[in-house]
Amino acid sequence: MKKRCLLGFFLCCFFIAKGQDTTIPSSVKNVEAKVDSVLALMTLEEKVGQLVQYNGSWDLTGPALEMNNKQKEENLKNGKVGAMLNVLSVEATRKAQKLVMENSRLKIPLMFGYDVIHGYSTIFPVPLAETSSWDLEAMEKTAQIAALESAANGINWTFSPMIDVSRDARWGRIMEGSGEDPYLTSKVAVAKVQGYQSNDLANPHTIAATAKHFAGYGFGEAGRDYNTVHIGENELHNTILPPFKAAAKAGVATFMNSFNDIDGTPATAHITLQRDILKRDWNWNGFVVSDWGSIPEMIAHGLARDKKHAAQLALNAGSDMDMEGGAYEIGLLSLVEEGKVSEEYINDAVKRVLRVKFKLGLFDDPYLYANPELLDQISFEEHKAVARDVAKKSIVLLKNENGLLPIQDSVKKIAVIGPLANDKDTPIGNWRAQGETNSAVSLLEGLQNNVSKDVGISYAKGADLGMGERSFLMPLEINKTDTSGFQEAITKASEADLVIMALGEDAFQTGEGRSQVDIGLAGVQKELLKEIQKVNKNIVLVLINGRPLEITYASENIPAIVEAWQLGSESGNAIADVLLGDYNPSGKLPVSFPRAVGQEPLYYNQKNTGRPFNPTHVTYSGYADEKKDALYPFGFGLSYTSFEYGNLSISEEELTPGNPIEVSFSLKNTGEREGKEIAQLYIRDLVASTTRPVKELKGFKMVKLAPGESKTVTFQMNEAMLQFYSVNKKWEAEAGEFEIMVGGNSRDLQKVKFSLKK
Ligand code: NOJ
Repeated sequence: MKKRCLLGFFLCCFFIAKGQDTTIPSSVKNVEAKVDSVLALMTLEEKVGQLVQYNGSWDLTGPALEMNNKQKEENLKNGKVGAMLNVLSVEATRKAQKLVMENSRLKIPLMFGYDVIHGYSTIFPVPLAETSSWDLEAMEKTAQIAALESAANGINWTFSPMIDVSRDARWGRIMEGSGEDPYLTSKVAVAKVQGYQSNDLANPHTIAATAKHFAGYGFGEAGRDYNTVHIGENELHNTILPPFKAAAKAGVATFMNSFNDIDGTPATAHITLQRDILKRDWNWNGFVVSDWGSIPEMIAHGLARDKKHAAQLALNAGSDMDMEGGAYEIGLLSLVEEGKVSEEYINDAVKRVLRVKFKLGLFDDPYLYANPELLDQISFEEHKAVARDVAKKSIVLLKNENGLLPIQDSVKKIAVIGPLANDKDTPIGNWRAQGETNSAVSLLEGLQNNVSKDVGISYAKGADLGMGERSFLMPLEINKTDTSGFQEAITKASEADLVIMALGEDAFQTGEGRSQVDIGLAGVQKELLKEIQKVNKNIVLVLINGRPLEITYASENIPAIVEAWQLGSESGNAIADVLLGDYNPSGKLPVSFPRAVGQEPLYYNQKNTGRPFNPTHVTYSGYADEKKDALYPFGFGLSYTSFEYGNLSISEEELTPGNPIEVSFSLKNTGEREGKEIAQLYIRDLVASTTRPVKELKGFKMVKLAPGESKTVTFQMNEAMLQFYSVNKKWEAEAGEFEIMVGGNSRDLQKVKFSLKK
């Protein structure tokens, strides 16, 4: 009832403004009708206004418009702005919304966006880390909490999830996605969209999500951010687009396009991607926001002569909203008058924006998300508990020899060493929204909080990782020379039963614009590791990092290695849970770890080539000076127990459309502890109309087993799972032979053949 009255109120305002009859037409029943009725009232100038997004001055991630806040305020009052980003707090969003609601003619409420990437103030693991849990429910839950905290602070739109498949560890933004696999990334995309949006966007506990960056951004040449992308149609459809298609199908409210060009066309001006594939073929009805300034950046790309030309190219290609680019506001009006952009395209873009605003409930209550009471309903303690839970599930055990882990009761003296051991900031990661500086539980604190009283812990930093200032905006200057802290660390290590070393990367070594050519243990860290090893061989190396690192030396020389990524607010407690054996690690890598940076881009789902690698011809599709395969492959992760896969069988040797087959195998816990295994299913299409990857993930299941317990695990395999973008330029499965592979990672697999008959 309340909703209807409010809507009535707004529509009345429109009709009064137009000098029209104020009765709400009976057709104004559903969102589409409401959208049309609002559109019908708008002038062209007001329409253009809906396609403009302004930054609210914080967290600049690109060049800001040359416009002072006074001017921006005037434009808000005059209905020339449709959305803002980086306006943080209930008061600030309320103030901006009031300018619109109390001054503009049509009073169309603003949307407020923000980069809520892995939590708002409670910080969860960075997305690459969280994906290592392969726990979709947990990932949905953290998105739900992030939505709740954001909405309580006035935000109703997050620029997340980032679902760019990325295969290059040099790329700084690899931390922000779900790794190298399109299937896993698609699953995460859906979980995240559901978590942020739930089933009712108008619920003030949910916010609109964004599938970004459309498309190809993770494939920048040489791993450089914003760089040119060379992908053909086959790669685009089979590898890059599936997560976006999944997000669109899951009802994601918005898409963000990307900075890169693809084979000569910037994504922002890409008609095929935005108009043909996304809006026509996928029939998706949300709106596309540009990336920050990506419209005027087409001038630098050499595609647009000036801002106005850039606006023409972008709008005509289906970029609906201009994020802080200042191109639409100066260009669109005259472009329509000159016939260079059709009003039909403008109408379509505006309708898309209005549709999302209606769904968010903003027309019913523009202040729905600017409600101070929402904050009081939040239990941050509960959110912390979820953060710890998902963080421990995200940890990947890479190596465990000499019975070092879990830490034995006989260990009474632990030396905790390394630049990241007591770092309370790096675990918060980059893209930290309102996560406070130095607010994470450090590894040292986590151990101190959780070890039994008779264990003594000593600590030495050993060395600084970076020097000088560290910030979101500046690359970190690495300490490559100062080893003055080594001696203290060596002494403490020599007195301990066990050394835990925390090495890796600073939070600001990954993230936007943080590509690196060296992905080893930066600065003096490797030297420190070697020095400590001279006095104590019982080392557990805990890696804290945002990208796969080159850790070949450690892998060959250090008995235990734990990949702890950047785990967020509860990092140290979660790592302690694993090291002390309170949680048996279950995470698996969503991305390959290289032996050398020269292998990048490195990924498991490669093509076979005409001269596949074989040990007698080591130079065939390999390297003369290094092995070809990953040091730790996609899907890899150990447990404190062990698992055995056996009895792989299929219900039928022939699959036909409409008649799925069952793939079954036994999984046994052969160790002495209860454990969880993420069992993985891969396929290979042996002969097809285009070349196909040697393996492709098609399913996974988390199986919990008591010591000695065995379970039969079953997957269904149907025709749809065998489809790919074929030579006929469509998704289809081709008759012929396939291999099914099952196992605990993408390398160690058992296989069986079957065929598809059509
Ligand atoms: C640029 C980034 O590429 C994008 O992911 C982000 O959402 C915007 N800046 C807004 O901060």
